[in-house]
Amino acid sequence: MAESWVNSAERIGSDLHVELTGPGGRRAALIRALREAVRGGRLAPGTRLPPYRSLAADLGIARNTVADAYAELVAEGWLTARQGSGTRVAAGVAPPPGARPRGDAARGPEENAPRAPGIRHDLRQGTPDASSFPRAAWLASYRRALQRAPHAAFGPGDPAGRPELREALAEYLARARGVRADPGRIVVCSGFAHALRLLFPRVLRGPLAVEAYGLGFHRDLLAAASVRTVPLPLDEDGARVEALGRERAVLLTPAHQFPTGGPLHPERRAAVIDWARGRDGLVLEDDYDGEFRYDRKPVGALQGLDPERVVHVGSVSKSLSPALRLGWMVLPARCVSAVLEVKGEREAWASVPDQLALADFIASGSYDRHVRRMRQRYRGRRDRLVAALAQRAPHVGVTGVAAGLHAVLRLPPGTEGAVVEAAARRGIGLDGLARFRHPQAATSAPDGLVVGYATPAEHAYGSALEALCAVLPPE
Ligand SMILES: Cc1ncc(COP(=O)(O)O)c(C=O)c1O
Repeated sequence: MAESWVNSAERIGSDLHVELTGPGGRRAALIRALREAVRGGRLAPGTRLPPYRSLAADLGIARNTVADAYAELVAEGWLTARQGSGTRVAAGVAPPPGARPRGDAARGPEENAPRAPGIRHDLRQGTPDASSFPRAAWLASYRRALQRAPHAAFGPGDPAGRPELREALAEYLARARGVRADPGRIVVCSGFAHALRLLFPRVLRGPLAVEAYGLGFHRDLLAAASVRTVPLPLDEDGARVEALGRERAVLLTPAHQFPTGGPLHPERRAAVIDWARGRDGLVLEDDYDGEFRYDRKPVGALQGLDPERVVHVGSVSKSLSPALRLGWMVLPARCVSAVLEVKGEREAWASVPDQLALADFIASGSYDRHVRRMRQRYRGRRDRLVAALAQRAPHVGVTGVAAGLHAVLRLPPGTEGAVVEAAARRGIGLDGLARFRHPQAATSAPDGLVVGYATPAEHAYGSALEALCAVLPPE
């Protein structure tokens, strides 16, 4: 017999994959397969096996064959059988070293942090604290969303996104970010990177002006779509938008320049809107961490100044998790149908049940609660970073700390490369500013480190800070 997927979900709440192969008949084959599954860690200690009857029916073998196989494995100590609790994998049969652990209980706190090989202290920018994902609240939203969803929600998805999510986003973005949002202008996507793929080159064409420092991943993605990017110089007031030339579109991070950290000066916000009006151009607003502002000066979305000149893009990648792959575009009216055309007839990227869960998460207030909790936590981490530097490395300046999930440490000239290398040798994951420089940028920023203080799990932050301070150059 080949392999079988045994689906006894209605009876025991789980599937069991077993292969009945090899010599000696079905009883022997089932014993071998179950032993193998326990030994390899696929059936963890305590796992309840399907009742004889359902496993026999699903495998197409006699009930007695299953009963005999179970009895044999109980006698050998692999399984336990107790009245009322069925047949389970015995507690003492630990999988061998290297076998894959299963389930949350098997997962240590360290494993919750996103890690790359060799990284012991993860201070790379770009990731929220993965150990703080609001599992219970998300599950509650998911459950409510699935209970309330009409049957049609499980058919092909509307490429604009579920109306429940677009309505929840319109209310939230208007309230929290000052976006002039109408659900009809919102198109759900899977994040900022996806928005770029949707816009270029079929809705917008290059050349595209970009900030001289930004995510190389986004520049590469644009280059792959044959879009030429033109670097705009930066200073302490953000992108120098007066340098905009013949381009028809510009990509900005106005709330919190990525990665250098300041907001775009109010005069430049007005100037870039004037530029777009004058040239029939568009501003692409990457509002990647707009929710995380720690001082008392809120910086609303640029889109609020002119919704017909700005494509506002956001996602849950910083606020909840980059693993969800959920984002949104708030589009000028004239761009909506073009973007929907690129998306195609059916939603192909953003899972509809996830969209419904996010709609509930926002509408029920869980999103606000989570963001507020995380804002407080990240503010505390930022303060610890600033305090640690003041004490251990007062000559290292820190900037870009009024908002976001990362800070920039200003280093003595000529030291950036050596510090990044020393950090890597000690298992500290972080980047130097140079990594984010547009290759054609006319000038370079002073030496600096981009420190993602949100990334480690809470318990690991102190040791990450300690390790960071130890590699900073002496005065
Ligand atoms: C500058 C910048 N833009 C956008 C994003 C969000 O990207 P996405 O929504 O594709 O996950 C990030 C997240 O890391 C970012 O650093």
